[in-house]
Amino acid sequence: MKKIVTIIRPDKLEDVKQALEEIGCLGMTVKEVKGRGIQLGITESYRGTDYKVDLLPKTQVEIVAKTEEVEKIVDTIVKNAQTGCIGDGKIFISPVEEVVRIRTGERGEDAI
Ligand SMILES: Nc1ncnc2c1ncn2[C@@H]1O[C@H](COP(=O)(O)OP(=O)(O)OP(=O)(O)O)[C@@H](O)[C@H]1O
Ligand SMILES: [Mg+2]
Repeated sequence: MKKIVTIIRPDKLEDVKQALEEIGCLGMTVKEVKGRGIQLGITESYRGTDYKVDLLPKTQVEIVAKTEEVEKIVDTIVKNAQTGCIGDGKIFISPVEEVVRIRTGERGEDAI
């Protein structure tokens, strides 16, 4: 099993969520976060002065999935979150040792 943590533009969340649902990827955790990439945010002008906004609002979506589902999920996220402009976001994938569904006590892939 893998954990997919993706940071996307907040206005892409609805499209990504809908597309994931269509491929049967249902469980997720969504957080509003702030972040920056290699451009370190943006510079904004306010009353004639330039201010550096170094952390921009982003949306983080966390999904734990079967390893065999990961490629399909990643493709779906990229397809639905991409604008081609800087700041589109990232996807981080890491291993997950165990999952437990608290209601039933099921474990592993059965608990996803
Ligand atoms: N190395 C990183 N570690 C953790 N979070 C990151 C990292 N890079 C980007 N992020 C997160 O992803 C968000 C979007 O990053 P962004 O798409 O701007 O990355 P980038 O590397 O600057 O690529 P691009 O050149 O396309 O803008 C950031 O605001 C931050 O929340
Ligand atoms: Mg960037």
